[in-house]
Amino acid sequence: MNPLFSDRINDVPRSFIREILKDALAPGTISFAGGLPNRSLFPARALEEATARVFVEQGTDIFQYSQSEGLLALREVIAARYRQRGLSVEAEHILITTGSQQGLDLLGKALVNEGDRVGIEEPGYLGAIQAFSIYRPRFCPIPVDENGMDVSGLEQVLAGGAPKLLYTVPNFQNPSGITYPDDNRRQVAEKLSGRGVVLVEDDPYGDLRFEGQPQTSFGQLLPEQTVMLGSFSKIIVPGFRIGWIVAKGELMHKLLIAKQASDLHTSSFLQQVMLQFLTDHDLDRHVEGICKAYGQQRAHMISAIDRHFPGAVRITRPQGGMFLWAELPAGLSAMRLFEKAVKERVVFVPGDPFYIGKREVPTLRLNYSCVNEELIEVGISRLGQAIGELLG
Ligand SMILES: Cc1ncc(COP(=O)(O)O)c(C=O)c1O
Repeated sequence: MNPLFSDRINDVPRSFIREILKDALAPGTISFAGGLPNRSLFPARALEEATARVFVEQGTDIFQYSQSEGLLALREVIAARYRQRGLSVEAEHILITTGSQQGLDLLGKALVNEGDRVGIEEPGYLGAIQAFSIYRPRFCPIPVDENGMDVSGLEQVLAGGAPKLLYTVPNFQNPSGITYPDDNRRQVAEKLSGRGVVLVEDDPYGDLRFEGQPQTSFGQLLPEQTVMLGSFSKIIVPGFRIGWIVAKGELMHKLLIAKQASDLHTSSFLQQVMLQFLTDHDLDRHVEGICKAYGQQRAHMISAIDRHFPGAVRITRPQGGMFLWAELPAGLSAMRLFEKAVKERVVFVPGDPFYIGKREVPTLRLNYSCVNEELIEVGISRLGQAIGELLG
């Protein structure tokens, strides 16, 4: 290990996805590996118009330093959207961040000392594992499946002492597409209540529901202990890097200090453009368009899987979001399948990087937001063939 670098940075896992995809892929390779929203659904023209209006109407103010909390009018729009869903959130509870990814870093800065216990879903969002790793916690993984968070796993973790925070993505989780059912959320909230654990509800995908009914937010079930993270990345554009944290009281104060120390504030120019877009357009209608497209892509992928994958492969059937999760028969490694699949010109993300310290797992993530019906059909058929060969 090069002594130049801090232990902190040496400890952080590299972006495994970039590592495995760094080699040039053969032409014609179909990728279900990405985690990106579909660029054809970006409201490019509307953002161009919003930008022009901001230049004309705001003058040079848009280029000045501004408040660390973020633009008040934008925070008001975000808070109003929470109130529409029955959550009591005011602008003062919103801190604009440079993507919700920065929200994770600020939570780590404000809450986690080296060696502190941090509860995290397993499988869990790779970017959260990376962001928290910088603060050198002891991760306590808790399994999640279609029934939500494993309550006995949670009890076991709590029996070892309350972790500082518990990280969750309860709606259309990355990587699995799983949504915690309401009764599971209630059980989790009950177990945590009064325990001094900050529950992080990271929800970049919640608006992308194309089926079923929304579930109750932890922000409603456990308001005193929940910090919510949100983002415009999956519902407008990721390139603006605009997300937010919803927190209250002393924790908000500490997060604001962490934000100031990190980057003073998120681009005020881009916040102004975002606000103009939200003022001039109906975000819900825009999101409906995304849901329609992703819902169809998800349906094509599931139909192709049902026809092309061996029956022994289990999959999640998400009601929203961008990913589904497949589980190969026990004993098969998704990493071995990946090596085979690359040769068949189809890629996905093997499950390994979504676990803390587990390797050669039988699970894998498939993204459907960036592939059309035709590519889904060909890609899933190639993958089905590769799985069949691996099964022997
Ligand atoms: C669960 C989850 N949280 C946070 C992020 C980061 O999003 P952003 O920083 O663009 O808001 C992502 C991005 O893929 C994600 O899947």
